[in-house]
Amino acid sequence: MEPKDKVAIVTGASGGIGLATTKLLSNKGAKLALVSRSKSKLEQLSKELPDSIAVAADLSKVEDIKRMVKQTYDHFGRIDILVNNAGQGYDAPIEKIDVDTFHCIFDLDFLGPVVAMQQVIPIMRKQGGGSIMNVSSGLALMYLPGMSIYASLKRALAHISLTAREELKDDKIAVSVVYPYITITDFEKNTIKATERNWESSEDGDEEDGAPFKPDTAEYVAQKIIEGIETGEAEIFVHDWMKRTSSS
Ligand SMILES: NC(=O)c1ccc[n+]([C@@H]2O[C@H](COP(=O)([O-])OP(=O)(O)OC[C@H]3O[C@@H](n4cnc5c(N)ncnc54)[C@H](OP(=O)(O)O)[C@@H]3O)[C@@H](O)[C@H]2O)c1
Repeated sequence: MEPKDKVAIVTGASGGIGLATTKLLSNKGAKLALVSRSKSKLEQLSKELPDSIAVAADLSKVEDIKRMVKQTYDHFGRIDILVNNAGQGYDAPIEKIDVDTFHCIFDLDFLGPVVAMQQVIPIMRKQGGGSIMNVSSGLALMYLPGMSIYASLKRALAHISLTAREELKDDKIAVSVVYPYITITDFEKNTIKATERNWESSEDGDEEDGAPFKPDTAEYVAQKIIEGIETGEAEIFVHDWMKRTSSS
């Protein structure tokens, strides 16, 4: 789907991959609902991006997600693109996983995108189509100790995305999933950690099994997201070598 003149919701728009995605979509002529918890950051961004609105919402809360979709639809009168990007990491070995934290991460990283899809599907169906881009993670394709909950939820998100894609193809709603690799954002800082990890050691440019351990910029990942929206392809691996790590 070409973004020009389309209405797009981008969650996690206040920083990192979401922020870069909103800027690229705006450059391509999309109208935007900018969503995250940081109201003032979104309002500032909205001043910079034409045809955009700031929607402060906690994407781990079902009522906030419903309000996000309603507010966007009430303002623009349609919704063409949903980028489910907001998310948070949780770094804890299995035996140290805190059940309450697990629930919070589940609500944000998995349930939130599912509820957002549920809300936009009837709107897109009525309009004759749409594009849903769910942001998973390369970790969904790998087994990194400590990241089991996060990776499992991102894998579940990938699975439900591809199942929804089959369910919705006759409605011309293209559901896609993108697997970013390590990306330079505040993700690591915002990851809830049960133990300390030296994340820096994986950013030194070494190679193992063809995997370049050089992090990507948010703009690079955003470009891949836009290309995925434009082509409507099912799975977007930000690097070709990641396809070899996929066991799905
Ligand atoms: N960076 C990486 O290495 C990497 C790799 C693979 C996948 N990913 C995925 O890429 C996506 C974007 O991450 P990022 O790297 O850009 O991380 P980030 O810099 O930490 O940004 C996260 C974004 O999500 C928003 N957010 C967090 N919790 C929220 C909540 N409860 N409700 C609403 N918004 C919330 C944040 O805004 P507020 O704080 O304003 O709410 C922020 O805009 C995530 O789904 C992440 O899992 C990242």
